[in-house]
Amino acid sequence: MNIEKAYNIWANQYDTNDNKTRDLDVKATVETLSKYTFDSVLELGCGTGKNTEWLLTKAKHLIGLDFSEEMLSIAKKKITDPRAEFKRADLNEKWGVENQFADLVTSSLTLEHIAYLDPIFNQAQLKLKNNGLFFISELHPFKQYAGSKARYETDSGTEELEVYTHHISDYIGSAENNGFELLGINEWFDTTPEKEIPRLISFVFKKKKQQKTN
Ligand SMILES: C[S@@+](CC[C@H](N)C(=O)[O-])C[C@H]1O[C@@H](n2cnc3c(N)ncnc32)[C@H](O)[C@@H]1O
Repeated sequence: MNIEKAYNIWANQYDTNDNKTRDLDVKATVETLSKYTFDSVLELGCGTGKNTEWLLTKAKHLIGLDFSEEMLSIAKKKITDPRAEFKRADLNEKWGVENQFADLVTSSLTLEHIAYLDPIFNQAQLKLKNNGLFFISELHPFKQYAGSKARYETDSGTEELEVYTHHISDYIGSAENNGFELLGINEWFDTTPEKEIPRLISFVFKKKKQQKTN
């Protein structure tokens, strides 16, 4: 099943089923981004708006992009704040957002569904103001090496989604290629680091100031 269709089906249980990855991502997002200030946020793969509500406690304007109509429809029902705008967009195509709109681009649990990171970093760079931040939180590649994938239960069994593995060096290399510097990297565990491999990895990248060319 393609990814968009799978999320359209998952949408009505996404917020309520047991999902350690989803829940840990809230902690990773809030703990990481609390120390930054931002006004305009571009949220990639906003889904049902799980993180949108918290981002709006700090932001003045937010655009959430997602290609799943059903995920977006739940986000729109939950979040009626006029500062939030939800748009249907495939992240593998042009995003339809004004350049230099954002001082923060965020992406949670979405890049595992994207085959090529370079076009994502390239567009994030265009949509950010100088010194803007790109926050990424993803299923840790160590988990992926061990076989973990986004999945949900249906009446006919477990539905596993199409995923791509991005190594840590892929994120960092793609960021560097597209004019970002790494500000921070963190690994997130269900319980204690001594007992398990990390579930999530997060990065904060900063867009480097563009050099003027004569
Ligand atoms: C696991 S959900 C994460 C949703 C939200 N960020 C969160 O943390 O709860 C992944 C989201 O990415 C969206 N997505 C995956 N591939 C996409 C693509 N190519 N373009 C737009 N959205 C995509 C899915 O529709 C889904 O809503």
